[in-house]
Order: sequence, then C-alpha cells, then structure tokens
Amino acid sequence: MAAPNATRPNIYAHIVGWGMAVPERCMTNDDIAAIVETSDEWIRARTGIHTRYIANERETTALLGLRAAREALEVADILPIEVDLIICATSTPEHIFPSTASIIQDMLGASKAGAFDLSAACSGFVYALQTAAQMIRSGAIQTAIVIGAETMSRILDWQDRSTCILFGDGAGAVVLHGRADAGGLMSAVLRSDGSGRDLLDLPSVGSLDVNRPDLINREHQTYKLYMEGGEVFKFGTRVIGESVRQACDIAGISITDLKLIVPHQANERIIHAAARALKLEPDVFMLNLDKYGNTSAASIPIALCEAAQQERLQQGDYMAMVGFGGGLAWGAVVVQWSGVPEPKRFGTQRRQFIYLTAAGRQRIRTFLRRISETFNRIRPQRGRLQRLRRNIDKIDDE
Ligand code: UT7
Repeated sequence: MAAPNATRPNIYAHIVGWGMAVPERCMTNDDIAAIVETSDEWIRARTGIHTRYIANERETTALLGLRAAREALEVADILPIEVDLIICATSTPEHIFPSTASIIQDMLGASKAGAFDLSAACSGFVYALQTAAQMIRSGAIQTAIVIGAETMSRILDWQDRSTCILFGDGAGAVVLHGRADAGGLMSAVLRSDGSGRDLLDLPSVGSLDVNRPDLINREHQTYKLYMEGGEVFKFGTRVIGESVRQACDIAGISITDLKLIVPHQANERIIHAAARALKLEPDVFMLNLDKYGNTSAASIPIALCEAAQQERLQQGDYMAMVGFGGGLAWGAVVVQWSGVPEPKRFGTQRRQFIYLTAAGRQRIRTFLRRISETFNRIRPQRGRLQRLRRNIDKIDDE
C-alpha cells in the first residue's frame, strides 16, 4: 500500500481493465419450461431474457470471479503482485468467511493485496467500485480489482416460476488504477431504504450450503431467494432515473452528456421505463440480459465488459453505471472513460507464471501446515519418551 502523503497531487481512479466469465452450461427458456409452468414467450415478453448460464458443481463463485479478474488484469496489463486490494461484491459467497475475495486473492497470486467481500445485493458492484475508488483517491492504495461474482442458481427456489426464470450465474471484474491525469470515477450516489428489506431476501448462508431447513425464513416459508417482483419492479424503475440524475449533477454534467448507461440487468421493461423517464433513447442503455439473465452483482461488470469489447466507449466519453435491488439498496456512478491502456509492459506469460506459482504455493503451504500439525502432535509423545528414558537412566544409575 502507498504511504499517505499530505502534499500529493489529485489522484483519479481510472478503469484500466475489464473481464467477465460465465459457466459452460447455457440454459434456454424452454429448458426452464421443462421444470416449471412457464413458456419461452412469457419470459421473453415479460423480461427480455432468452438464455442464462448455470454453474455446475465445480464452477463456484470464486472460480468465476477468478476467471473474470484474470481477464481484467490481462486487459490492464497489470501483474497480480501489483494489486493492493480486491473487493468481491456478492450475495452468493462460498462461506460467511473466509471471504470469496480472499480465495480469489490466493488463486491469483496477488500476494500484496488485501481482500474482502461486499454485500449490497444487486447494487454491490457499484458500492464496491466507489469504495475502491475512494481508497485510490485518498492515496491509501494504487491498484484494485473490483469483482461482481454470483452463483444465483444455488440459492434459487427452482419451483418458484416468478424468480427462477430471472437469474443466471457469472462474474465480471474491473481493474481500477490511480493516476494523476483527470478522469475515471467522477461521482457516486449510494442509497438504501431498509424498510423494504422484506421485498427481496435470502436467509441462507454460503452458496455452498443452501439446503439447511433450520435457516427457513418464517415469514416467506423459504430458505431460498424470495422476491416480491412487482414492488421491486416499481422501485427499480424509479431509482434508475433518480440516481443517475443525481450522479450527473455531482459530476457537473448533463444527462444528455452520457454516451452510455450500464444498468443492473434485471428486466428489459424496467430499463425501457427508465429510458422514457430520463427522455433518453433506449440504445443509450447497455442491454445484454437476453443472454445472461439477471446475474445480480455481476450484471453491471458483465455488461460493462461487453460494452468495452464492442467499443461502445471511446476515451473521454462519459458513462454511468446504476444498480438496484435487495436492501433495498441502490447506487449510481458517473465515469469518464479512460480508454484502452498503454502498450504492453508485461507479457501474458509472466502473469501465467504467477498463476502457476500461486497454485503451487497454495499446495506447498497446505502440505507444510499438515507436516507441522503432525509434528506438533508427535512432539508431546516425544517429550514423554524422553522423560521415560531419563527415568530409566536414573533407575540404572541407582
Ligand atoms: O435483481 C433484483 C431486482 N429484481 C428485479 O428488478 C425484478 C423485478 N420484477 C420483475 O422483473 C417482474 O415483476 C417479474 C418478471 C418478476 C414478474 O413480471 P410481472 O409482469 O410483474 O408479472 P406478475 O408478477 O404481475 O404476474 C403476472 C401473471 C401472474 O398470473 P395471474 O395472477 O395474472 O394469473 C403470474 O402468476 O404472470 C404469472 N407468472 C408467470 N406466468 C408464466 C409469473 N411468473 C410467470 C412465469 N411464467 N414465469
């Protein structure tokens, strides 16, 4: 971490890398119609979703987050050992602790980074972005990886057709880097209204442990995700416009200066309603929920990554990201796009080498810990043996 410096110049938090990952298995609306009473027509018309990706047992939240983070480091051309902080926004962490971010930190070989998870449901990525940016601006750190990663399929009630049709699994990540040139994250609005906490909730613990009847939510009689879709729909429609406007005001730009808005990918109808409320053309909004469904905290970084890959943003463009969901919590940020990073300093091979050594180091550490545990277990016995021998020697002397 960089040392605090009272006389340092302004530092700006630039987005310099982006990446995403989805599981192998693609599930169509027809696949879902084979499980619950629904249809491809209904899902397309009411949500805009055509397919989503569903994780297998090996594809955990950390693994998806890791793949997205590696891709983001590749674009940024930054080495894992240069990263100061990893934040993983997720509602489906593998455990309460260790954090999913710590697991990713280890697998990346980001040996100088701090790591923690952030819980703000579907707004988590926006919250995490602002948290990391603020640490960069303060001079406390220089480089952060901000991840949104979810395995929503593990916490869904697959008998509830009003929710299981909506969600998908995946991860997206960005690399934030502190530089003196102006740009990057310009403003942020983070808000919460906890009086709506019962509208969207999940009483379970880790995503690896979601089948515990003792965790049943008494009010809603479920231990999986519960949502009052209609209420959340109205809330989403209202706060997208409101918070994007506020973030633009703070950044000192007009809403029409925005080249692109990347909203949480919950429902196409919500996004179209927000576009009408803001009097903007629908194509100002990045939409890719047709392919991935609602991936909660991962939806914004996945959509941002695809927007960058499709070159929908040029250096200097203003863009906004806006999230909303469980909490109720919502938030928006305005970013001046920093463009594609400078020519490569490090080769892909150097990063691959660090990933390999990270995997090796983890195995060696586990092995050494086991040896040390075994040694500690036999040490008292060795002490007893030595005492016994001393007593025998004493008897011999006498
Ligand atoms: O990421 C967090 C943020 N989440 C969101 O923003 C989600 C917001 N909510 C939504 O996207 C929508 O409310 C839903 C897609 C969940 C539901 O759409 P809706 O237009 O609000 O439908 P509805 O709940 O008002 O239900 C209309 C009808 C009902 O039937 P009746 O009572 O009119 O006979 C439902 O039972 O549609 C029925 N229905 C379905 N029919 C076929 C509900 N789900 C389904 C389904 N297939 N999957």
